[in-house]
Amino acid sequence: MEYFRTLRPHLKAVNVYVPGKPLEELQRQYGVSDAVKMASNENALGPSPKAQAAIKKALRRMHRYPEGGCHYLRIKLAARLKVAEDQLIFGNGSDEVLVLAARAFGGPGTEAVLAKPTFPVYEIACQAEEITVRSVPVREDLRYDLGAMARAVSARTRLVYLGHPDNPLGTYPPNRELVSFLDRMPEHVLVVIDEAYFEFAADRKDYTDTLALLGRYDNLLVTRTFSKAYGLGGLRVGYGVASPAVIRSLNKVREPFNVNLLAQVGATAALDDRVFLRRSLKTVREGRRQVTRDLTRMGLRVIETSTNFLLVDLGREAAPVYESLLRKGVIVRAMGAWGLPRFIRVTLGKPAENRRFVGALSGVLDR
Ligand SMILES: Cc1ncc(COP(=O)(O)O)c(C=O)c1O
Repeated sequence: MEYFRTLRPHLKAVNVYVPGKPLEELQRQYGVSDAVKMASNENALGPSPKAQAAIKKALRRMHRYPEGGCHYLRIKLAARLKVAEDQLIFGNGSDEVLVLAARAFGGPGTEAVLAKPTFPVYEIACQAEEITVRSVPVREDLRYDLGAMARAVSARTRLVYLGHPDNPLGTYPPNRELVSFLDRMPEHVLVVIDEAYFEFAADRKDYTDTLALLGRYDNLLVTRTFSKAYGLGGLRVGYGVASPAVIRSLNKVREPFNVNLLAQVGATAALDDRVFLRRSLKTVREGRRQVTRDLTRMGLRVIETSTNFLLVDLGREAAPVYESLLRKGVIVRAMGAWGLPRFIRVTLGKPAENRRFVGALSGVLDR
């Protein structure tokens, strides 16, 4: 038996999230010493220097419990986003906020609507709460089919999860489509708009300013993170923005000290690190252009992305290509488990890393 005998029955079917192997482990396994990890959509520049400095200073306060309400981070972020302080909730990564939504609003007999493929945490969060998942296949162009997703909503639906932009697709529904989808959502459905990659997409013309919609729809929860553009993935801090009523509901299922002290300090400092943020965005935008151009020249289909990663159709089974890239010390993701067996997902790196990836891929495909 894979599970303990008294495990709650619905949990037997839950898929446990499979993380990538540690870099050191892969290096040992494949006999390489200078591998580049382009598999987890992390920030290629490392963590925000201002966050690092603030955390060093805070180390001597580590015996204290953190602020349960993320007091200073809340004040600063509310001012930055121009929302009220009671419109914010913080999580141990934005992942936690996605999970809290399922815990607060789902349960046996309820349903959630998701795209297929999409970010796996949505489904795992729903399964854990006995929420029946209705997965709606994405369109040929790897964008959400919002018409079909709206039709999948029933009287039992409590949640819709939308990646804005999505991972692994890298795409987002353009403004007009998103707004008309929201117009169709009944009040008993909370629409969770996951903006983990917001900073990389915000300059696109048809990208929706979802925070501006919060006054219009009170069944909206927007989540964002410090893990990507600010380079704080290992620290675990993200947040949700919604109406005060939604936030109050989520707080009922949140653990009191869910965001650790160093994470709060680091995130607060990172918000002031405009230099680092600018560098992050520039690196990603240039990488996006460079790698898309190179791969397109190689005859590959690259899905236009608004994130720090690219989804690439290799036109052949991706798993062996993934293995060969590993042997060359380039770690990407093969997307078979997402139902995209011909695709890889590669996180954009520094210029030299991007060149190394392109060179390695070109070598593997030419063989
Ligand atoms: C679409 C999406 N949402 C949420 C997350 C979670 O981010 P975090 O929990 O680090 O804030 C990720 C991380 O990869 C993601 O890709």
